[in-house]
Amino acid sequence: MLSSEPTFSRRFIQDHYNGLPGALTAVTGLVTGHEALAGRLIRPGAFDVRGCKRILDAGCGNGRYSRFLLRHADADALITSFDLSPHMLRRAQARLRSPRISHAVADLTRLPYADAAFDAVVCGWVLEHLPDPRLGLRELARVLQRGGKLLLLSTEDTLTGAMCSRLWHCRTYNRTELRQVCGECGLRWEREMWFSALHRLLKLGGIIVELHRVEVL
Ligand SMILES: C[S@@+](CC[C@H](N)C(=O)[O-])C[C@H]1O[C@@H](n2cnc3c(N)ncnc32)[C@H](O)[C@@H]1O
Repeated sequence: MLSSEPTFSRRFIQDHYNGLPGALTAVTGLVTGHEALAGRLIRPGAFDVRGCKRILDAGCGNGRYSRFLLRHADADALITSFDLSPHMLRRAQARLRSPRISHAVADLTRLPYADAAFDAVVCGWVLEHLPDPRLGLRELARVLQRGGKLLLLSTEDTLTGAMCSRLWHCRTYNRTELRQVCGECGLRWEREMWFSALHRLLKLGGIIVELHRVEVL
């Protein structure tokens, strides 16, 4: 189905990612370079997870970001990953094969984790599947301990973002508005990140930001 409208139904999203489009994320990741570019974000000097002991990959998909979390996190860090799609989780499991990571089917808007359960979270290209970002951001803020960090990646309201949103039946975000909503949810916009200097120059690659958990006044 190719439609210009985002589709927020959980059943649709599950079926979509369980099926061929989900299987193709491995290929599209290679073609777009996102597989390799992920490694530029999660590493010392960028989103640094050294010292973090409880790390969450929210909407992990095929494990693209978990792979780099495993590579750079401390050997005794526990990595938890979840996704709405059981098939995507299986793809992640088959790819990662590590006893240091656990996988669960869960919904970003109703997380089965305790308050302050994590000191670092990665949430890549998931928020755009929600009709209202607050539904996901409040949950991410809740499960992050105070001072904990979040790497958030989301589709932007640019020309390339609009094309991606058509393919993946998701919405886009305005950077300024998203920043404000993050603040309302107790997530301080710490620093914007880009895949490369060229991405920064051309304003390509979407919204990539490191946020820190703060108290909402
Ligand atoms: C574009 S993929 C990104 C996957 C991975 N984070 C990455 O960057 O490679 C979006 C993923 O979000 C998942 N997803 C969408 N809505 C979700 C929700 N409400 N809760 C959990 N996962 C969700 C989909 O099943 C899919 O695996």
